[in-house]
Amino acid sequence: MTQSTIHPVTIRDAAKILLSGDVCAFATETVYGLGGDATNSDAVLAIYATKARPRFNPLIVHCCDMEMARELVVFSDMAEKLAEAFWPGPLTLVLPLKEGAEVSELVTAGLDTLAVRVPALESARDLIRAVGRPIAAPSANPSGRLSATTAEQVHELFENKVPVLDGGACTAGVESTIISVSDESCVQLRAGALPRDEISTIIGFEVVEADVNAAISAPGMLKSHYAPNAKMRLNIEMPDQGEAYLAFGPFAGNNDNSTITLNLSEAGDLKEAARNLFAHLHRLDAENPQRIAVAPIPQRGLGEAINDRLARAAAPRP
Ligand code: TXA
Ligand code: MG
Repeated sequence: MTQSTIHPVTIRDAAKILLSGDVCAFATETVYGLGGDATNSDAVLAIYATKARPRFNPLIVHCCDMEMARELVVFSDMAEKLAEAFWPGPLTLVLPLKEGAEVSELVTAGLDTLAVRVPALESARDLIRAVGRPIAAPSANPSGRLSATTAEQVHELFENKVPVLDGGACTAGVESTIISVSDESCVQLRAGALPRDEISTIIGFEVVEADVNAAISAPGMLKSHYAPNAKMRLNIEMPDQGEAYLAFGPFAGNNDNSTITLNLSEAGDLKEAARNLFAHLHRLDAENPQRIAVAPIPQRGLGEAINDRLARAAAPRP
């Protein structure tokens, strides 16, 4: 552990770290990212090593604006429309990699497409601007573990070994929505912080979910992912004795004082629930419960992303 990992990191510090080829975590509006210079293969290797991430799983490249993104990928008319409507924001576009684009081959894991996004959080864009290069950043968690929505969680997950640009608690709380766009089609590869119906409204037809068996998919959509240490049960109205409970909407309690209950949103608000999801799971898991039971979450709007993360968190571990 170096001194810089426990002292506050400024944007200037973070930019320096990234330009030197090291990794630095930083806040975005969705979850914290583990950043590295996307043009530097050593930096990208350091990201994979720090996360213990399989190398076949490509990374999202973060740009400070459209101009930077245009250097890297080819925008179809539909992609332009989406970027205009939702950037900066929690939408990742998978687009054809531009010939001669200055980005390490390790970022795309050999694919001829690149996932790009312009984050909404100003400090994230300021950081990218200060570096002057695109920043590759997967979520700042060891591969397979819960994502982090605060700087404290990143410190805990990486045992204080990774410097973090603290941007406060993430306002969206789940990862970006990933869309693969071509001239004719628009397919959702990962449900996320931007609800699918909002994207459909902009393009004028329904964005479909990717067929998991089709060639076109996000290689990183592993079944077990975002996993707490405790086992989980989903769609539970009333937890068993000894189970920690993640409630949603009004919940009167279960008379079991030995266990902890946290509510994603007493008001039943999906936006609030998404914001609380990973933070609440981290807190419940820290109590070392026998098991975590989770209330049913409606499958509309942001519920799609929340249920996706919960299903992966509850999936059998490899
Ligand atoms: O909100 C987010 O998207 C956060 C913040 C830090 O920006 N990042 C994030 O990255 O969630 P990560 O690495 O945890 O998830 C990236 C996903 C993976 O499932 C990966 O397989 C997919 O994006 N992906 C990356 N490049 C791709 C490509 N060219 N084609 C298809 N999927 C791709
Ligand atoms: Mg991730």
